[in-house]
Amino acid sequence: MANYDVIIIGSGPGGYVCAIRCAQLGLKVACVEGRETLGGTCLNVGCIPSKALLHASHMLHEAEHNFAAMGLKGKSPSVDWKQMLSYKEKTIGQNTSGIEFLFKKNKVDWLKGWGSIPEAGKVQVGDELHEAKNIIIASGSEPSSLPGVEIDEKVVVTSTGALELGKVPKKMIVIGAGVIGLELGSVYARLGSEVTVVEFLDAVTPGMDAEIQKVFQRTLKKQGLSFVMGAAVQKTEATKTKAKVTYKLRKDESEHVIDADVVLVATGRKPYTDGLGLEGLGVTMTKRGQIAVNAKWETNVPGIYAIGDVIEGPMLAHKAEDEGMAAAEQVAGKHGHVNYGVIPGVIYTHPEVANVGATEEMLKEEGRAYKVGKFSFMGNGRAKANFAGDGFVKILADKTSDRILGAHIIGPAAGDLIHEICVAMEFGASAEDLAMTCHAHPTYSEAVREAALACGDGPIHM
Ligand code: FAD
Ligand code: NAI
Repeated sequence: MANYDVIIIGSGPGGYVCAIRCAQLGLKVACVEGRETLGGTCLNVGCIPSKALLHASHMLHEAEHNFAAMGLKGKSPSVDWKQMLSYKEKTIGQNTSGIEFLFKKNKVDWLKGWGSIPEAGKVQVGDELHEAKNIIIASGSEPSSLPGVEIDEKVVVTSTGALELGKVPKKMIVIGAGVIGLELGSVYARLGSEVTVVEFLDAVTPGMDAEIQKVFQRTLKKQGLSFVMGAAVQKTEATKTKAKVTYKLRKDESEHVIDADVVLVATGRKPYTDGLGLEGLGVTMTKRGQIAVNAKWETNVPGIYAIGDVIEGPMLAHKAEDEGMAAAEQVAGKHGHVNYGVIPGVIYTHPEVANVGATEEMLKEEGRAYKVGKFSFMGNGRAKANFAGDGFVKILADKTSDRILGAHIIGPAAGDLIHEICVAMEFGASAEDLAMTCHAHPTYSEAVREAALACGDGPIHM
């Protein structure tokens, strides 16, 4: 038993970042993690492995579709799935051991095992009871399924199973056209699977700018993904090697059955709080099963905080990280802050999709007067040279003040380009501020500047 200033439960992007920041601020800190390795969902079964498979499959796609046109001739590579999985595992290992190194460097104790909170100020891990002035819950999330759908992680899988399939399936059904469904659906489509996405709503990636949704779906269709929209999945039935999915079309209630070798259930994630003992402590929860916190990430129980996927807000690694840093600062008596209005979202398909701030639909609903500046990557020299002319940058700015309110990008490196706009928004910049900033040529970022110019007197290259 040891006494700590802070014990953090969970070592995902929320927990490990919080632990390191607490240590940097001079606090004695421990982090409890029940998995074999640190890094949480993100490093072990989320962001990192999915991006490794997206990268490898994108390379294959480039070789198959664009190499010959650039004068790179010859047989395109074939897929060695075992090797691809081992590349993915190696990438995970490099990242998780990196966190272990950072813990040692910052003198963060890793308490190995599953933690619970018998009472405020105490954390039980296995047989050991530890004391802490502050406890920060960063226990993350887990996949949520549907009634009538039984997950076996072999034939009917969540993202976790989809990251380690025995082989590339001939046919895959993806339930849910959200971020996971479209990223992992893209991976398998590029590797040769026939992918059908079944989505409840009429548009992909709910909550995203409607114009981007349409172009995104069209682009994925061109890449070979099929979509059944407006379809409510009723059930799955699986054997050892195949599964059937029954869905009802919302427009006419007609029932349909399709089959595949693998069904990926990607219908959202839910907060993970099992075994923490929150009920006994009387911690207030939201209607959606999240831990309720105030603006300082404090729960209703003094000395207990919560951050990341287990609380309200987008389930994103960088949102969890920012909350981790801010909560550490609160605990250390400083003033941690997260600007929830400027949290970027990125989908790592090809082209990438990225967004920050308001959508056009949100501004219309608010009745706010706004202007739109758009620029297609077809007018960007670098994109044309790199076969990356599909997509556009769209900037939304206040009609009177010209202040940037939001941005939506589909195109090459969208996930990097969006950060220029995030910084601009943090500084309260106008579209003109962006437009007046010199951008190097030839770069994709010139498309951002051109979209900013389009909010004013007009772009040059369109
Ligand atoms: P988590 O990362 O879920 O970590 C929580 C940790 O707490 C886990 O390791 C768990 O074992 C541990 N834990 C829970 N309870 C206890 C307990 N009682 N005792 C001890 N340990 C406990 N987000 C992005 O921003 N970008 C992406 O590209 C991205 N890709 C994703 C791809 C997939 C396939 C998935 C599933 C998610 C992806 N996400 C992505 C979401 C991202 O992974 C999460 O938002 C992020 O991991 C949340 O961080 P967290 O620290 O809140 O929780
Ligand atoms: P999601 O919420 O993004 O999408 C779920 C989709 O499933 C929605 O489109 C929804 O309408 C649909 N759906 C729900 N019930 C259905 C039914 N019965 N039949 C058909 N469709 C149905 O959830 P997803 O993709 O599982 O991702 C979970 C979380 O992980 C997200 O919140 C996301 O933020 C995070 N994530 C982030 C990534 C990134 O930042 N690049 C990558 C992967 C995940």
